[in-house]
Amino acid sequence: MLPITERTQPQPRPQDPSPRERGPVVVLGHTGLLGQALVRVAAERGLRTLGIASRTVPGLNLARQADLAPFLDPLAPSLVVNAAAITDLAACEADPSAAHEVHVRLPGLLADWSRHSGVPWVQVSTDHYWNDIENALHDEAAPVGPPNVYARSKHAGEELALRDPGCLVLRTNIVGFRGRTGAPTFAEWAVNALAAGEPFDAYTDVWASSIEVHQFSQALFDLVAGGARGLLNVASHDSLSKADFIAALARAAGYDPQLARRVGRPARQRPRRANAMGLDVTRAEALLGRALPGADEVIAAIVASPAMPKLTLRLDLALEPLELRPAEATAAVAAVDAGAAGGNET
Ligand SMILES: NC(=O)c1ccc[n+]([C@@H]2O[C@H](COP(=O)([O-])OP(=O)(O)OC[C@H]3O[C@@H](n4cnc5c(N)ncnc54)[C@H](OP(=O)(O)O)[C@@H]3O)[C@@H](O)[C@H]2O)c1
Repeated sequence: MLPITERTQPQPRPQDPSPRERGPVVVLGHTGLLGQALVRVAAERGLRTLGIASRTVPGLNLARQADLAPFLDPLAPSLVVNAAAITDLAACEADPSAAHEVHVRLPGLLADWSRHSGVPWVQVSTDHYWNDIENALHDEAAPVGPPNVYARSKHAGEELALRDPGCLVLRTNIVGFRGRTGAPTFAEWAVNALAAGEPFDAYTDVWASSIEVHQFSQALFDLVAGGARGLLNVASHDSLSKADFIAALARAAGYDPQLARRVGRPARQRPRRANAMGLDVTRAEALLGRALPGADEVIAAIVASPAMPKLTLRLDLALEPLELRPAEATAAVAAVDAGAAGGNET
């Protein structure tokens, strides 16, 4: 029998494991626009991550397995974030069964695995659900009208994920730099078009609540830490047209906003696309206890990104013509080339 003093002394409570001691965060789609940001933000928070994507684990297509337990159980994750997707709308139209595998079957398997393992997980979804003649903020209960294979399959994936009460499904619209040659993201395309200095079309009737990917990732980890479950919109609290977004980006980055010609979207787009994608983020802001970023903060984060190309001396010279002697001109051109190459990680 223990001496009375020992029995009555409060026993030390088992400490919560530190972030480093907890199991890793498994990020499905870690090579993508969002996956890269999730890995970076997790590392800043002291969380270990393990990434799985088609190109890093060739031959392993999780979406084709009968059961994810043999793959995920040995990794002992503390959290799984599913950021894997086929985000090329035309590719989804061309191969609907591939879209179904990644967008529907995979979240279905994750829901089954999570119900059995008890490990929380996040399904990242989309805002690609609405067509309208005006900008509108859609809350989580708004009826959806997915216009194409991508959107229909993403919505079906949401429904399977939501059958698991432990799942957090996040609808969003993300912007940022991915750095994949030949496949620019919206932000990469806009910055390249502005930097090229030639006029280009920017749609006045396509609206979205775009959030910068690292801002989205911070909100995701905060919501998970707070135990959030179910369907939530996580995006900017402002919904802007693509034309307004690009003009604001141009002003913030020192480019000429007039280069973006303000036009309506083509009448017949193939595949059909959503245009009124605004998201109402009231619920997520209440759970987070803070405001999600406004459009100006989103644009500031893009401009501050290390991947943002630095304004070249060419533009500075164009604004303020300098009288240079030939030797100085040569040195200035060399500096321009170095700045352009070094300023853009892509
Ligand atoms: N980008 C947007 O504008 C946007 C807007 C709204 C919502 N979303 C949603 O946000 C999430 C992340 O999108 P993102 O823009 O980061 O996508 P992304 O850049 O296209 O990356 C997709 C990721 O999924 C991986 N992947 C595709 N098929 C896979 C498979 N069968 N098995 C394993 N991995 C696979 C890719 O791997 P590889 O590198 O090997 O190809 C890549 O890592 C998705 O749920 C998307 O629907 C995106």
